[in-house]
Amino acid sequence: MKNDRLLEDIKSRVDIFDLVSGYVQLKKAGQNWKGLCPFHGEKTPSFTVNQSKQIFHCFGCGAGGDVFAFVMKYDNVSFNEALRTLARKAGIALPDGNIDRRAVLRDEKIRDVLVEAADYFRDQLRKSSRALEYLGRRGISAESTENFKIGYAPAGWSNLLRHLRGRGVNEKEITEAGLAVVGGKGTYDMFRDRTMFPIMNMSGGVIAFGGRAFDDAQPKYINSPETPVFRKSETLFGLYNAKESIRRGNMVLLTEGYLDVIVCHQFGFANAVAPLGTALTQSHVQKIRTLAGRVVLMFDGDAAGRSAAKRAVSLICQSNLKASVLILPDGEDPDSYLTS
Ligand code: UTP
Ligand code: MN
Repeated sequence: MKNDRLLEDIKSRVDIFDLVSGYVQLKKAGQNWKGLCPFHGEKTPSFTVNQSKQIFHCFGCGAGGDVFAFVMKYDNVSFNEALRTLARKAGIALPDGNIDRRAVLRDEKIRDVLVEAADYFRDQLRKSSRALEYLGRRGISAESTENFKIGYAPAGWSNLLRHLRGRGVNEKEITEAGLAVVGGKGTYDMFRDRTMFPIMNMSGGVIAFGGRAFDDAQPKYINSPETPVFRKSETLFGLYNAKESIRRGNMVLLTEGYLDVIVCHQFGFANAVAPLGTALTQSHVQKIRTLAGRVVLMFDGDAAGRSAAKRAVSLICQSNLKASVLILPDGEDPDSYLTS
């Protein structure tokens, strides 16, 4: 049970107009404020904010509620996470017992370490002619490299470990973040000699990585293990970059791989996302549902891709979303189809 007084305290300090106007341009309309709804695509404003009642309501899509509902829906986060965001805005410290403080601090530390690692990998990419040449050969532009924060993990067993230790991060924290592995002979870097794709949450925070080997080296991809901040079955690669386009068009383009997403964006399909090498799950569909009413599947043009698409379509339809399947020629995936 959440402490009702706490919620009221937060509400009394975070005005809904101040909060929403950080995301939506609002104009005065009688007693209320009006703007374009951030939750569905529209050209004439039907999204209203009522300051005296401290609520928002969209006459177009029916979305509505208080400041908590707005943050949950806009950031696509749980109530607890919205509570944290708003408590921070309100300058209210959350009491112990309401949420697990130690876990919150640990998660914050993990997120910091992941950001440090992403910065390090980006820096290393600039210095690696081999990795830059590989991205060039894959048709990835400098702009995409920037937008997706692509990096490079150098060859060797302890480059990142050394870098992070030098910045005061301890081995336990590095391992908890999924960046190092504890082996018989000691701890070593999880990602070595790989092009690195950071996996971001809805707010653009790095929560994990996918690392691709060069050419035919195996395994082709290594992904971060599950950590307190990363649940693979709930995460869609590219969602941060795609969310605005998805909202605007009320449509998600679902592909299968990292490169598919990046190349689709590069070619103007900015609503492309992908699960992380797993089948589509109910939690993925839930995430999509909060953003759009329609999914177009563009899976690989092989038998495996087609059967994965079939399973995904039935899951999507069970959630009352519209689904269509775009069938690629045999042997092509969105990336190869667009770049060839
Ligand atoms: P694909 O094998 O289709 O690779 O795997 P891809 O995305 O087309 O990549 P390129 O073009 O060969 O570089 C689809 C997705 O499955 C996951 C990754 O998320 C990948 O993008 N995967 C694949 C793994 O996690 N591990 C693997 O070894 C292979
Ligand atoms: Mn591919």
